[in-house]
Amino acid sequence: MEIRILEESQIDPMTDAAVRGVLAECFPHYSRLFSTSRHWRGNVPLFTAIAVDKSSVVACSVVIDRTIRIGARPVRVAGVGNVCALPAYRGKGIVDRILLAAMEVAAEQGFEWGMLFCRPEILKVYERTGWQPCMDRRFVRTDSVTGKSVEMPADHGKMFLRIGYRPLPAGDIDLQGDKW
Ligand SMILES: CC(C)(COP(=O)(O)OP(=O)(O)OC[C@H]1O[C@@H](n2cnc3c(N)ncnc32)[C@H](O)[C@@H]1OP(=O)(O)O)[C@@H](O)C(=O)NCCC(=O)NCCS
Repeated sequence: MEIRILEESQIDPMTDAAVRGVLAECFPHYSRLFSTSRHWRGNVPLFTAIAVDKSSVVACSVVIDRTIRIGARPVRVAGVGNVCALPAYRGKGIVDRILLAAMEVAAEQGFEWGMLFCRPEILKVYERTGWQPCMDRRFVRTDSVTGKSVEMPADHGKMFLRIGYRPLPAGDIDLQGDKW
């Protein structure tokens, strides 16, 4: 098993199709989208982490470069998304290896915090690699279809990772766009 980090410009058509295949299998309700694009909600990754077993892509995750607002200040975060592993590759720590590799590169690129959203039952998956729930704050996103500002439900999984040495600034969080 090999973990590779690919910038968007390094993803050739074969890798693109392989990653889309993994995404479509892991997120069946978005299989139509992933049959043509890897970019959930149009988010183009800064880089993609993939796990490759015997020349096949079996798991992946993306990092999106986003500037959100916390309280009054803009804050750049490594937005993690599209985290998944094919069923046969779950429960083996492969997702942990992908997340750790991705966050190492994010640290090299100067990100101080990671942020992601998930269903509450998946919080524990991310806690294994140091992510912390961020459920006590008010989160607002801008719906990409209606353009309206929407408060994210209190029980929606929201997590951050301290990559640098500074704690996440205090305050309500505005994603200044939709989720990723
Ligand atoms: C989420 C995922 C990446 C986790 O992979 P993993 O950590 O290697 O292995 P598992 O699938 O065994 O999940 C780890 C734990 O999360 C739980 N879990 C995973 N998906 C779950 C779900 N949809 N509902 C409830 N619990 C879930 C598992 O039961 C397991 O619990 P346990 O540790 O108590 O046994 C993988 O299950 C996956 O690819 N799922 C489909 C895509 C997805 O939902 N991605 C997350 C987007 S936020």
